[in-house]
Amino acid sequence: MAPLDPHSFSDSTNPPTSDVSLSLYFDFPSATIHGVAFFILAFPYAGQLSFDTRSLTIHQVLSPNDLSPLPFSLSSSPDPIKGTQLSISLLPEDDDTAFNSFFIVFSTSPSSTALQWLCPPQTFNKKHPFVYTQCQSIHARSIFPCQDTPAARIRYTALLNVPRELSAVMSARHVGRRPPVSGEGHSHLLPNGFNSLWSSETRVVEEFLMNQPIPPYLFAFAVGELGSREVGPRTRVYAEAVDSVLDAAAKEFAGTEEMIRQGEKLFGEYAWERFDLLVLPPSFPYGGMENPRMVFLTPTVIKGDASGAQVVAHELAHSWTGNLITNKNNEHFWLNEGFTTYAERRIVEAVQGEDRAILNTGIGWKGLKEEVEKFKDNLEFTKLKNNQEGVDPDTIYSEVPYEKGFQFLWRIERQIGRPAFDEFIKKYIATFKFQSIDTERFLKFLKAQVPGIEKDIDLVLWTEGTGIPPDAYEPVSDLYTKILSLANEFKLGRMPREDEVADWRGQEWELYLENLPRVLEASQVLALDERYRLSESKDYEVKVAFLQLAILSKCRNFYSEVEKTLKEVGRMKYLRPLYRALVQGAGKEEEKILAKRVFAEARECYHPIAQGVVESILAKHI
Ligand code: BES
Ligand code: ZN
Repeated sequence: MAPLDPHSFSDSTNPPTSDVSLSLYFDFPSATIHGVAFFILAFPYAGQLSFDTRSLTIHQVLSPNDLSPLPFSLSSSPDPIKGTQLSISLLPEDDDTAFNSFFIVFSTSPSSTALQWLCPPQTFNKKHPFVYTQCQSIHARSIFPCQDTPAARIRYTALLNVPRELSAVMSARHVGRRPPVSGEGHSHLLPNGFNSLWSSETRVVEEFLMNQPIPPYLFAFAVGELGSREVGPRTRVYAEAVDSVLDAAAKEFAGTEEMIRQGEKLFGEYAWERFDLLVLPPSFPYGGMENPRMVFLTPTVIKGDASGAQVVAHELAHSWTGNLITNKNNEHFWLNEGFTTYAERRIVEAVQGEDRAILNTGIGWKGLKEEVEKFKDNLEFTKLKNNQEGVDPDTIYSEVPYEKGFQFLWRIERQIGRPAFDEFIKKYIATFKFQSIDTERFLKFLKAQVPGIEKDIDLVLWTEGTGIPPDAYEPVSDLYTKILSLANEFKLGRMPREDEVADWRGQEWELYLENLPRVLEASQVLALDERYRLSESKDYEVKVAFLQLAILSKCRNFYSEVEKTLKEVGRMKYLRPLYRALVQGAGKEEEKILAKRVFAEARECYHPIAQGVVESILAKHI
């Protein structure tokens, strides 16, 4: 067996799946999906085929012709990271007719890690249930069996059978919504009577087609009572059907088309036809997820001042870097996120100006330095290309691939000049689109396009070395420098005057707070809040940066606000620093008890991925 990917049981000698057709029956009362999947392989094959699964029940594997059962087995105990290996014997009796397709009948379970099932009280409208996916990096396997590696690319069609009062969106073209038809999509194969429930009057089918091949981590759906607003010629924003949420979202994202146009100017034609946005309930574990044609977003990006545009710029940038060119496996994740961070900042620069882009770069620079410090006992994960054998990608998720990757590309830009670098990126995208590549492929291409580059830039140090290379670069601008010097003055006891912060937005405050000493006197924390009300900020980046400071400074006045925050949002960017600040370090008994209690009470509201991440933070320190 030749492994392709440290996070997958897929075997490189097996044919890759080229297409999958899914018929999925959503059973909300039991938080389960019952499914029939029809797989087409890239070429006929006779032998053992290895798929990834997690928390799935496999009912049957069936041959394509006469639906006769095919032998299969599941590994006896699940690997804690990879899950359960499904081995299918594709050994037809007649040697001439090797299969290139087969069916799998399966069910998810309530512990499927990609899925969060929300009961009505956890939604905005409080009336209907909601379910949504988060597949990156290795959770698609908990929805349907697959070769769950970004080295693979699959086209898909899907019939989603859902209660009539709900609707569905996917990372695919919406073909239509209609009453279910008995037996369609091989739904007669569904287990436990769900075959007959398929065509019940209380149900509806939402049909989707994704005819551009995507890596499995970009498979996505959401089902709930959804509404939408038009915000541009190829963009609609979806959210739960609550007018106030939809109106705020439409306002926040009004500038999306302009960003797409700037992206096209910089990186080439937008390949995915539509660029729709879905605003999820507050438990969504990320800021955004670049699901093609339907970006998923946390509602915390709606801040009322159009600053959420940065996250949209980032997910949009993935339309080129990540979704068109994908990392071959997670060890080369920087190719996805570093490139996207670079592309995001170019889009932000084009639509919001250089000052804003530099501010973001400065926030990122500070984040990178802190992240490298956090990994001081585990330097492997300060490398761009790193070894992830036996490592869970969710637990080592950090800013390193984003910000060190950004710094590497920015370094190349400084070396060859912007016009040449712009040409290079365009050519890189055109050359590798719809492919999955690794760091070596990138370097080979770079050296071919920019002969002699390795004499000017230590490419090996950048891609394989630990820490921050000496030729990384802290940005400069008047605004950036001013904020940093104000943060420095705080150390000498001077708080910024009202007139100095009068036109500060969230990002200015974030940068300021991040650059204060990690631990202050409790009285200083109180004074800061008294003057600027940061603990009540509607901008979660600001609020969380402030609350983190309050915890590290043991300013207990704000612990009830910390608790409230941990209970109202599930975005890991906020959960991680707050829980970490509570439990890290000595003499934190009260904080540890608080963290444990709040997690016990909030746990059910978090996405399973966030539950796992918080659990591992607590386990490390308690
Ligand atoms: N693809 C990521 C989110 C992700 C990464 C999910 C790894 C699962 C595993 C997405 O594009 C992202 O980076 N989101 C950021 C946005 C920010 C950098 C503007 C986030 O969620 O904070
Ligand atoms: Zn990203």
